[in-house]
Amino acid sequence: MRANDREKKAAELGNSPLRLDSIQGALATKRLGTKFHYFEEIDSTNSHARRLAETGAPEGEVVIAERQFEGRGRLGRSWESPPYSNLYFSLLLRPALAPVHAPQMTLMAAVALADTVAAFVVEPPAIKWPNDILLQGRKVAGILTESSCDAKRIEFVILGIGVNLNFPRERMPETIRDRATSLMEVGGKSFSRENFLRRLIQDLDRCYGILEDFGFDAIAPRWEAYFALRGRRVRVEMVDEVISGTATGIDGDGALLLEAEDGVLRRVLAGDVIPLGD
Ligand code: BTN
Repeated sequence: MRANDREKKAAELGNSPLRLDSIQGALATKRLGTKFHYFEEIDSTNSHARRLAETGAPEGEVVIAERQFEGRGRLGRSWESPPYSNLYFSLLLRPALAPVHAPQMTLMAAVALADTVAAFVVEPPAIKWPNDILLQGRKVAGILTESSCDAKRIEFVILGIGVNLNFPRERMPETIRDRATSLMEVGGKSFSRENFLRRLIQDLDRCYGILEDFGFDAIAPRWEAYFALRGRRVRVEMVDEVISGTATGIDGDGALLLEAEDGVLRRVLAGDVIPLGD
């Protein structure tokens, strides 16, 4: 699509296309945001970032799209990706971590994302394990981490991030309207996607640096400070099991710690956490 047509289409929706040149020039990062691959529309930015990773692209590159027609969420769900209003992007990382520590990347990204959200709205963000960012108890952003590892090392990690920025409730599909929100809904105004993206990539760069230099012990307390469910009764739906209990925190690998109803302390590596009435 030509630039003029893009402007017109975005204006019809009350928005404007992303101006990445205003970000690239002013990005204060050590490693992230070295190159932006911009798409008017794409299947999924994660899928494209994986294609780049597999053909040897270096760490730090960003794939970003105005719209995704196969935007993916965790646990095989789809991610609502309407054009020009929100942010959909994926970062290619090549961390020097053992494969067993790959989940730490998601938790590190959740801290960075919560820090960025906190810089834009007065309302405090919370993290729902492992990677949902909530405002007023509703999901405002999510992270889909995909990685490729061999026995000894992580080959690459794709951090896919979706943020509901200027997404009015009336445009949200009914299937997510009760559970989702956007910065616009909470802040009562629209936000510059460029300012948010610049800040987020800088926060990710900073938190990634902390993880690599000081290890997960330096990230975990920051994650715990945002943890929405500590001490709450929850149900955890895993692939082959559903358990209920009290969420107590995370362990050194980022697993959710749960005191199950039979008193046994369980480690949950993957699943969906649903808060129960206390
Ligand atoms: C979740 O909360 O379930 C994760 C949502 C992740 C959505 C983002 S949007 C950019 C990137 N590309 C995708 O297909 N998914 C992630």
